[in-house]
Amino acid sequence: MSSQVEKSVVVTSVTLLSALALVATVLFLVGALVGLVNSVAPDDGSRKQTVALDRIKPVARVSTALPKPAGEVKMTGQEVYNKVCAACHMAGVLGAPKVGDKALWQPRFAQGFDTLVNHAVTGIRAMPAKGGDPSLTETHIKDAIIYMLGETGIKVDVAEAAPAAEAAPAAPQ
Ligand code: HEC
Repeated sequence: MSSQVEKSVVVTSVTLLSALALVATVLFLVGALVGLVNSVAPDDGSRKQTVALDRIKPVARVSTALPKPAGEVKMTGQEVYNKVCAACHMAGVLGAPKVGDKALWQPRFAQGFDTLVNHAVTGIRAMPAKGGDPSLTETHIKDAIIYMLGETGIKVDVAEAAPAAEAAPAAPQ
């Protein structure tokens, strides 16, 4: 009986020992692998720093750089027209060319868009400079004229309306 028991104890011990050896080997290999990975990509702290900087970066930035001169109010051509120009140009006050009256606007538009802008900016006869509102910029005036002409059925080529455009469009040939 005792030899039978001894044998099974020995077998169990051998099995246990080999299992332990296997676990140790696996642990050693994992350790070696981690060491290898670390040596291939050493962490000199820069990655941690990047992560930290990313974590403390500001949520939003306030830009103090204004795209346009300070004080300029952003308005569409229609808004400028309604606020300033409509007072005269809606009903034709003081002989102002009425918006919507193509026969009145066509010969004026024939002078060239830039000329219209110049006259509206500096004033012409009963038309006060900038329609009487000096806070308006040339862009406001331009947009308002484009709107007024558009309402009248005259389409302004935006490229022609660009600041660098020729004053008088060249006649064909
Ligand atoms: C106080 C009245 C008044 C206001 C306000 C006014 N205008 Fe005029 N506008 C006139 C009169 C009057 C004329 C016609 C002048 C002339 O040719 O004798 C005119 C003419 C014009 C012309 C034609 C100029 C030309 O060369 O034939 C343009 C363009 C114009 N106005 C744009 C504007 C714009 C844009 C505004 C608003 C920012 C404006 N006007 C506001 C009275 C006004």
